[in-house]
Amino acid sequence: MKLCVALDLPEFEQNIALARELKEFDIWLKVGFRSYIRDGKKIIDELKAINPEFKIFLDLKLYDIPNTMADTSEVIAKLGVDMFNIHASSGKIAMDTVMKRLECVEKRPIVLAVTALTSFDEDSFQAVYEKDIDTKAKQFAKDAYESGIDGVVCSAYESHMIKTHTSEKFMTLAPGIRPFGESAGDQKRVADIGFAQEELVDFIVVGRPIYQSENPREVVKKIISRL
Ligand code: C5P
Repeated sequence: MKLCVALDLPEFEQNIALARELKEFDIWLKVGFRSYIRDGKKIIDELKAINPEFKIFLDLKLYDIPNTMADTSEVIAKLGVDMFNIHASSGKIAMDTVMKRLECVEKRPIVLAVTALTSFDEDSFQAVYEKDIDTKAKQFAKDAYESGIDGVVCSAYESHMIKTHTSEKFMTLAPGIRPFGESAGDQKRVADIGFAQEELVDFIVVGRPIYQSENPREVVKKIISRL
């Protein structure tokens, strides 16, 4: 299991300072919507300059018509990031089109599909998708797997079930991780490290428990010693 640290601090300099503090660790860094919209490729280049071994996950969760998603995925694949994601609910055709387009890219990044956002509880999810989370997550994961996508973003609660219905090798990345039972914030389906391990999660994403702590390095060290 790998640790992916969410660089969700408000300012460019703060995210860079956090990455510098974590320079020595073998970790993934997640660049989100806000940072990428504001800082663009500069943040990717800066993070790789701090430590070329850092792996970067660009979390933009694409959702658009298939051709636009494929065009954008091709551009992302050439940015030098190691992983990015799209919404599975954009549909099977969109996922097929994206993966087909990436065939032309040498050394493409890992592509993940988002099943259900971890901020949804059962009621708010059903208000949008009209089915329960498990049923839809399973269907989204199956569609993604059949499109040749590498894995899914899901909650730790769905990871094992998704692997059972696709393949053990189909990767799962779980946000909403509270490594040692910290406050959930706006996340509804949170899990700790032990649970994520039992559920065979490949990547845990941790944001606030790291960057809101007094000593992010110590928290990362403690997490890594458990992985
Ligand atoms: O601070 P926290 O650990 O809750 O951060 C979780 C990160 O994972 C945030 O950047 C959030 O946008 C992201 N994320 C999520 N749920 C998803 C996909 C991404 O919480 N389904």
